[in-house]
Parts: sequence; C-alpha cells; structure tokens
Amino acid sequence: MSDYVMGRTTEEHERLRRQAEVWASATARLLDRAGLSPGDRCLDVGCGTGAVMDLMVARGGVVTGIDVDVSLGAAVDGTFVRADVERDDDAVPAGGFDLVFGRLILLHVADPVAVLRRMWRWVAPGGVLVVQDYDMRTVDSYPPLSVVDEWRRVFLGAYAAAGRDIRLGTRLPALFAQAGIGAPDTTDVTGRLGTTADSAGMLAATYRSIAPLALAQSLITETQRDEWLSEIDTAARVYGDHTAMWPLLIGAVRRKG
Ligand SMILES: C[S@@+](CC[C@H](N)C(=O)[O-])C[C@H]1O[C@@H](n2cnc3c(N)ncnc32)[C@H](O)[C@@H]1O
Repeated sequence: MSDYVMGRTTEEHERLRRQAEVWASATARLLDRAGLSPGDRCLDVGCGTGAVMDLMVARGGVVTGIDVDVSLGAAVDGTFVRADVERDDDAVPAGGFDLVFGRLILLHVADPVAVLRRMWRWVAPGGVLVVQDYDMRTVDSYPPLSVVDEWRRVFLGAYAAAGRDIRLGTRLPALFAQAGIGAPDTTDVTGRLGTTADSAGMLAATYRSIAPLALAQSLITETQRDEWLSEIDTAARVYGDHTAMWPLLIGAVRRKG
C-alpha cells in the first residue's frame, strides 16, 4: 500500500469531489485538445472519485480507472482496477490504451519518473499521454493573511518532509524527458483566483487531511491545529473579500509516434 499523504477518510473523499468540480473545465479542455474521440480506450491513473472518468465517458471514451484506494472503486462509472501504480507494471495491458491520463497522482508518488515510464508503456502506438499536476507555490492571499502563511508552512512543509515536490507541475517537461517520453507536444497552465470566503473551505479541508502527518512530523501541536482551524473560519468572515490564489494546475500532453 503506498503512503498517500492526504489520508483515506470520508472527508478526504468529499474534498476530492469538490476539488474535481473546480478543475473539471480545465481537464475537459485538455482532453479535447489531446483529441479524445468516441470509442477511445481511456485509462485514468489514480482515478479517485472517478470525476475525470465521467468526462471521458461523456466524450464517448471506454474507460478504465486505477486506484490503490479500493473504497473508491464502487463509485466510479466504468471498469475499476485496484492497483498500486508505483509497483504494478501489469495492472493493465501494455499498449492497451488510446489515452492514458493522470491528474494529481505524480505529486503523491515517491518516484514520478518511474510512474511516468509505466504510464507511457500503457499508451498504444499512436495514442496519447495526458498529465495534470499542481505547482502549489502560488497558494497565497492578497492582501496577505497570516493564516494563509501558516497553511503554507504546515501543508507545504509536511509535503516536502514526506519527500514530495510541491512544484511538480512545473517540472513536468523535465520529468517527461527523464522518463524517455520526450518533450510535451502541448502544455497548459490553469489558475484560479478566488476570495478568502470561497477558498477557506478548501484550505481547511487540505489542512485537516494533512494534519495527522504534520503532527507526526512535529510541525504542529494539537493546540496549534485547533487554533488554526478556528482562525481560518474567522478569516473567511472578517477578510472574506481578500483575493485567494489557488495552486496552478499544469498539464502536459505527448502523442506516441
Ligand atoms: C489527489 S487524488 C486525485 C484524484 C483524481 N485523479 C482527481 O484528480 O480528482 C490522488 C489519488 O491517487 C491515488 N493514489 C495515490 N497513490 C497511488 C498509487 N501508488 N497507486 C494508485 N493510486 C494512487 C489516491 O488514492 C487518490 O485517489
């Protein structure tokens, strides 16, 4: 079982659902640019709640999702394969898919280059690899708020201490090169500028998901956790009109010649 830093709770699944709604149009646009057509065999790696599988089905794709979290399998629309993408080379057939996709999965694995190599092997000749991942350095508020600065210290600190790269999205072209895939044919950068009022819920949900790890790493105490959760509620009310910048969602596409 891989070590998923965000935990596997009902709250985390609900957070994934809300996050997927935010990025649905950015992903739909990239799938269309990548040429997803009716009848294409599509694979969603780290499919989570299956939100991207729904976008693929809506475009006529024949869809398989892989996730290590078996409790998600029942909810997805399509075939579900329980597999660990860090280990299972043969979870699905090599060359078996016209489109292999992964959103916010490479950020969670110890060796993203090895996972990209595996995903590339699953692409059929003439098929396409599509990856989207975060650069989380942009998370901020304007004017600045100490509660958001503290989110960055704890959330990004816990990620980095777990050996994950908070800027992975920006590294995608370099990772494609290291995996022997070659430079992306297309890249895409999508941002979201919200307000503290409409972003506080996501900040609190991500903080709650990472808190057990941050506690274990001694980045926070239980008292600091509880105080922060109360401060973000206050900030949403008092400074609700401050601008809130989300992570950048960065996409890369490469067709197999
Ligand atoms: C941040 S969620 C993204 C879910 C979905 N791709 C989306 O964008 O809505 C990451 C997902 O990757 C899965 N995951 C993490 N490590 C994995 C691994 N080694 N093999 C397969 N799935 C994994 C998690 O269980 C989780 O569902």
